[in-house]
Amino acid sequence: MNDSSNRKPSGAARLFEPVEIAGLRLANRVVMAPMTRSFSPGGVPGPDVAAYYRRRAEQDVGLIITEGTAVDRPAAANDPGVPHFHGEAALAGWEQVVASVHAVGGRIWPQLWHVGALRSGSGSWRPPQPFESPSGISRPGRESGVAMTEADVEATIAAFARAAADAKRLGFDGVELHGAHGYLIDQFFWEGSNQRTDRFGGATLAERTRFACEAIRAVRRATGPGFPICIRLSQWKQQDFPARLAHSPEEMASWLEPMVDAGVDVLHCSTRRFWEPEFEGSELNFAGWAKKLTGLPTITVGSVGLSGEFVASFGGERSEPASLDELLRRLDREEFDLVAVGRALIADADWARKVREGRFAELGAYDRSVLARLA
Ligand SMILES: Cc1cc2nc3c(=O)[nH]c(=O)nc-3n(C[C@H](O)[C@H](O)[C@H](O)COP(=O)(O)O)c2cc1C
Repeated sequence: MNDSSNRKPSGAARLFEPVEIAGLRLANRVVMAPMTRSFSPGGVPGPDVAAYYRRRAEQDVGLIITEGTAVDRPAAANDPGVPHFHGEAALAGWEQVVASVHAVGGRIWPQLWHVGALRSGSGSWRPPQPFESPSGISRPGRESGVAMTEADVEATIAAFARAAADAKRLGFDGVELHGAHGYLIDQFFWEGSNQRTDRFGGATLAERTRFACEAIRAVRRATGPGFPICIRLSQWKQQDFPARLAHSPEEMASWLEPMVDAGVDVLHCSTRRFWEPEFEGSELNFAGWAKKLTGLPTITVGSVGLSGEFVASFGGERSEPASLDELLRRLDREEFDLVAVGRALIADADWARKVREGRFAELGAYDRSVLARLA
């Protein structure tokens, strides 16, 4: 029987089919991963930043997640070129970014960021006040800045909520909280950086989700129902790559479920290589498990379309274009909903358009030298 008219698209067609995520209609499943570019002097994103995101939106990126942008705390950023998400000038800059992306039919979420105890790996710049974090350490034995008082914690939650309300007011299509890679929210999750004895600490991962949950609840209150809220999560930390938060599916459920209850809509599951199984005995990756355990839509990421992963690329390793077959196979199985692409989209603004049109021979390599300019 020929039932092809009822068949779901598969392969690249499925990557480029329209999809609705948390009530938001996207032209396709390709997401631009959040990537710090440090081209916003004084924390203000200018017309070059707006043009950079617009170019990706006009070349078939379904959803842009901006580079991490600092919430309103004195030490939320660790680099002077990182855009702020507070203050009149920075917010006016972001309004232009949103307008540019919307003008070509794109969708965009800001990634709201606080670095916690993590100073920048490059450069000696320091914020006006000491770094602040759950316990004044970035990892066991590594002091950095000060431990937050309960009042600091409350003020930081309020800063995330204000930023989200501003995002909605400026016309953004949702928000992402940066809860990954060893930064502030992740410092609360991780026992190696959270040694608090108040209600924001605890012996179990479930207890240490409280900060994230309160931030999500505050963001939901500030934005109301129907505004997509995503959180980016990772097991790995920059300060300890092999570290893991959840050692079993059960522990992963105890981490994710409180955030679902708090009102998060989308889970962005950051791995360095999307094809790596999360737990023994199953091929599912982190995004696959997160979707299976919570039923929420998930975003996968990590070396999509490239031969090497991004940490090595900071060290100078070049990545060549790589096959998308394994990714498309997993997408067909509905292991995850959206696919975030990082470096390939820095190297080539037309990456999504070329993939959609099957112009694979035109895809280029990624080399860290492309970071020198915003193109
Ligand atoms: C230059 C650069 C800057 C990045 N900045 C951020 C960031 O601000 N927030 C974040 O969550 N991840 C950041 N990442 C990680 C990417 O979002 C992505 O997870 C990683 O590059 C893996 O995807 P890829 O292999 O497709 O590049 C950055 C990566 C790169 C290469």
